[in-house]
Amino acid sequence: MPIIRLARFNLRPYRKGDEHSIVENINNPKISRATLTIPYPYTIADALSWIDQNLKAARKRKKTEINLAIDMGGQVIGGIGLSKMDGHQAEIGYWLAERYWGQGITTSAVEALSAYALNDLRLARVYAYVFSSNKASARVLEKAGYGFEGRSRRHVVKDGRRRDCLLFAVGSAPGD
Ligand SMILES: CC(C)(COP(=O)(O)OP(=O)(O)OC[C@H]1O[C@@H](n2cnc3c(N)ncnc32)[C@H](O)[C@@H]1OP(=O)(O)O)[C@@H](O)C(=O)NCCC(=O)NCCS
Repeated sequence: MPIIRLARFNLRPYRKGDEHSIVENINNPKISRATLTIPYPYTIADALSWIDQNLKAARKRKKTEINLAIDMGGQVIGGIGLSKMDGHQAEIGYWLAERYWGQGITTSAVEALSAYALNDLRLARVYAYVFSSNKASARVLEKAGYGFEGRSRRHVVKDGRRRDCLLFAVGSAPGD
């Protein structure tokens, strides 16, 4: 599992003991509303199961997901990951604690993990689906160099409601 060191924070694997800062920072209805699977309330049991799932996934030879903590001073202030890694592509997803919003942190994290996916993992494409209402996330992807590919109507069901998503992607040069 990679450790990606950046100026203000690191991206690193989850570890035992992270459960407290995860809950402190992720337990927010705004984060739950903007994502597909993060619950609210988010409990210590949820965090322990997330850490356990990732420790198991990290031991697998063929990885289908890589989830990293956004670590500032040893605290998990956010998360970012690649999932559905099959063949040449993967989906990226992320969240950040509300008190750090608007400082460009997620944009830097998305840039760094996307570069790792394309250059080190040699993937040809990284994509993201964003609820059409999530202007901040769409902007993060634009700033990180992703291109808008279109609107997927009724792409997911969230809280019993069908939701449109915007699809963004970044890739290596055609034919690479
Ligand atoms: C989306 C999220 C990750 C953004 O993190 P962040 O670190 O604040 O992002 P950045 O600071 O790198 O960039 C945010 C950009 O969105 C813009 N923005 C924020 N709210 C906005 C809004 N309501 N409308 C338009 N733009 C908005 C900011 O101005 C900034 O753009 P700028 O640099 O051009 O001014 C964070 O808000 C979050 O965790 N939200 C809840 C979970 C989530 O949405 N996850 C993604 C699911 S696809």
